Amino acid sequence: MNVNKPNPLHLSVTLVAAFSLVLLLATSNAQAAWWSPGGDDDSDQQRGYQAEFPINENYRFECGACHIAYPPQVLPKASWQNLFANLGDHFGEAAAPDQHQAEILNYLQNYASDSANAGKFKDFTKRLQSPAPVRITELNFWRLKHDKVLKKEARFITDNPDVGSASRCNACHEDAEQGLFQKHTVLIPNVEKREYK
Ligand code: HEC
Ligand code: HEC
Repeated sequence: MNVNKPNPLHLSVTLVAAFSLVLLLATSNAQAAWWSPGGDDDSDQQRGYQAEFPINENYRFECGACHIAYPPQVLPKASWQNLFANLGDHFGEAAAPDQHQAEILNYLQNYASDSANAGKFKDFTKRLQSPAPVRITELNFWRLKHDKVLKKEARFITDNPDVGSASRCNACHEDAEQGLFQKHTVLIPNVEKREYK
């Protein structure tokens, strides 16, 4: 057998392998993380928190008039339950839906931060200070993530004419209603980035 003669089978296997590698690199973002020097941890940080949930029009309509229709993943089931038990006096407002109340609560609980659909949002349930807090902005996880912001609460939030309340997630996280919260896309209106990044 002539060892110098290229083995045609070997050559085609090599070609297929090279071609697949090119395809992988070109088509898939997930694969990009695999070869980027930062590795998985960095890309995970970049992704931040991205909730996945089906849009419920009744929820949007009934609960999205005074503030964004918060993504269901930002509170645990018991919190949604607690909130719905007091919609007659909802932070000083009458907020009971005219219709579909049971359906909306069921939807929120199905995607809650302690549901099977929570994904990374199970973090929102970490070290809960009480079994059913009714504010996202009271959760220990939320407060921890916003410690730099809260240190300058008056200037960044309450006295900031384009924010006003920490409950207005969308003032700083543009796509909050779609469930997107990322360090690298967050922008506090009227504040220089270097003050909170
Ligand atoms: C009539 C206006 C109104 C409607 C309708 C309404 N809310 Fe609210 N909601 C408020 C106000 C006011 C606050 C307090 C906001 C603040 O402190 O800045 C609030 C706060 C909240 C918070 C806590 C936000 C935080 O600070 O973490 C949640 C959660 C919430 N609402 C859910 C709902 C749900 C679910 C519905 C539908 C059943 C709903 N809201 C309908 C007025 C409303
Ligand atoms: C005044 C502006 C402001 C408001 C309002 C605000 N956030 Fe944030 N948020 C920030 C900033 C700034 C960061 C990044 C903090 C850092 O880099 O340490 C952040 C970070 C986060 C993160 C972590 C993102 C990551 O990549 O780790 C989550 C989750 C989050 N916010 C959710 C919320 C929710 C939910 C609300 C509304 C209840 C909200 N935020 C309201 C400014 C805000």
